[in-house]
Amino acid sequence: MQLKQTLKFAAFAVSAFGMVCSAQAADKVYQVGSNMAFAPFEFVEDGKPAGFDMDLIVAIMKTQGAEVQLNNLPFDGLIPALQAGTIDIAMSGMTITEERKKRVSFSEPYYDNGLVVLVRAADKDKFKSIDDIKGKTLCAQIGTTGAITAGKMSGKNVKLFNNGPEAFMELNNKGCDAVVHDKPVVNYYVAKRGDKDVVVLPGQLNSEQTGIAVAKDNKELLKMVNDGLKAVKENGEYDRLYKKWFGQ
Ligand code: ARG
Repeated sequence: MQLKQTLKFAAFAVSAFGMVCSAQAADKVYQVGSNMAFAPFEFVEDGKPAGFDMDLIVAIMKTQGAEVQLNNLPFDGLIPALQAGTIDIAMSGMTITEERKKRVSFSEPYYDNGLVVLVRAADKDKFKSIDDIKGKTLCAQIGTTGAITAGKMSGKNVKLFNNGPEAFMELNNKGCDAVVHDKPVVNYYVAKRGDKDVVVLPGQLNSEQTGIAVAKDNKELLKMVNDGLKAVKENGEYDRLYKKWFGQ
């Protein structure tokens, strides 16, 4: 299976052991899957995984005395990988949706999110509000809520890419009129690049909540993840990471 290869190729071992070492989890390394082209949630920096999600899942599992390995996978391969047992956890800015809940189990929400619209600055007068992009050629990442929402707005007039940065590039190349993608990721992209050629339209298309996914029947792991999430919220680690990556 192609996924297995990707897994081998892009696995980064992260030891989550501190001084704590709990007996039941110590012998297992939990495989985490993530699509690492989604800064500031997950991206590859100096050849290593970085971002809010990456730090958070390591911290969460550390409270449970567990070690994780972070694997870079295609976003639309994450749920199939959970179902096949190739990975144990998907930590990838994944929105909790009813459709996905039929296939995997989600943790308690860990981030409030929403979709926004990015257009070329030159089109600022043409597209004043998010409603103005209905029916236009839209770019989005394959398998995401952005892709689904873009489809509802423009039907077949949607171009799908393996990741957000490729969709942004297509917008710059005038291959589409707008990109529909997650708000913090779009804002980070614009701020980081200091890109004056693109602008985020005011408002957002919806509100979404992000969760950590595990295989549907894995109640034990789901409990570990939820307990760990609660623990990092209580011990201040969640707030520290939130400030580190979102700056407020
Ligand atoms: N929140 C969106 C969704 O769940 C996009 C997530 C994309 N994540 C990523 N790491 N590329 O569909």
